[in-house]
Amino acid sequence: MTTLNRHGSRTRQRSEVPLDRIILGDCLEKLGELPDGSIDLVFADPPFNIGYDYDVYNDKQEVSKYLDWSRRWMTEVSRVLKPNGTFWLAIGDEYAADLKVIAQREIGLIPRSWVIWYYTFGVNCTKKFSRSHAHLFHFVKHSTDFTFNDESIRVPSARQLVYNDRRANPRGRLPDDTWILRPQEPEAGFNPTDDTWYFSRVCGTFKERAGFHGCQMPEQLLGRVINVSSNPGEIVLDPFGGSGSTLITAKKLDRRFLGFELSPEYVTRIEQRLAATRVGQKLDGIEDARDGGKAKKTTARRRLSSSES
Ligand SMILES: C[S@@+](CC[C@H](N)C(=O)[O-])C[C@H]1O[C@@H](n2cnc3c(N)ncnc32)[C@H](O)[C@@H]1O
Repeated sequence: MTTLNRHGSRTRQRSEVPLDRIILGDCLEKLGELPDGSIDLVFADPPFNIGYDYDVYNDKQEVSKYLDWSRRWMTEVSRVLKPNGTFWLAIGDEYAADLKVIAQREIGLIPRSWVIWYYTFGVNCTKKFSRSHAHLFHFVKHSTDFTFNDESIRVPSARQLVYNDRRANPRGRLPDDTWILRPQEPEAGFNPTDDTWYFSRVCGTFKERAGFHGCQMPEQLLGRVINVSSNPGEIVLDPFGGSGSTLITAKKLDRRFLGFELSPEYVTRIEQRLAATRVGQKLDGIEDARDGGKAKKTTARRRLSSSES
């Protein structure tokens, strides 16, 4: 909305942050309506510009157009973040380098981690190696003042799991920056010594699957991002709603939330999902990375759980 100011020129009115809802519309326009410094955490999983078949969005833009658009929405993200805010960007190989340079060098966001989300069940290729990863860039606005709740996402260390070493920190350790998502859980290939992330990609047959969006992110992955980079009651924004999983996860974790989405169909489905979700509800997917995706608990896992209770 624009109004005339007392000098007679037009200024844009920036209203309060609308909370706990998904809003139909273009994120660039909707971000523009948010006040400066009003959001604690932005998680964005934009279209990758690879020709994916979305409901209304055309995912095959000219390279320069896509990059210019990415620059504009990420600049808005930076503006709406609080001074101690955090921005997580999920992006594919095709534009990871470009978007990192834009966010870091042009917009001035400060990189903390470059996480690789390793998954399977990607498209099987025959003339190149099959894609099994996506990039998760973790940026902050301030170099020292930002939320990082390491306690909320710790995993058992090898000292605890393998060596039963009394010197092991009973609080476990931070996960590595490669997050493994192995739906088929090969016991032999990935055993409990891997203190990495055992969350599955949300495949077609999974209970978690909402069923209307092919890019649905796993709640366990989103839970790790939201837990580590925000506190209960703070505001989480997702400019690209998709299936709504960021908002669902934020609600379960007792965060305030806001999402934007271009497709009326997706918005309706997200609203239905949100209405069926309760604060405090368990996240879908493998319950806890500290279980390594396996139900049985080792002594070290039991120790980790009891040290936290
Ligand atoms: C990769 S998907 C997001 C998937 C989401 N992270 C999830 O877990 O389901 C990107 C979404 O952005 C939406 N989109 C594309 N351009 C948009 C824009 N300018 N504003 C808002 N949403 C947009 C698309 O319709 C699509 O649903």
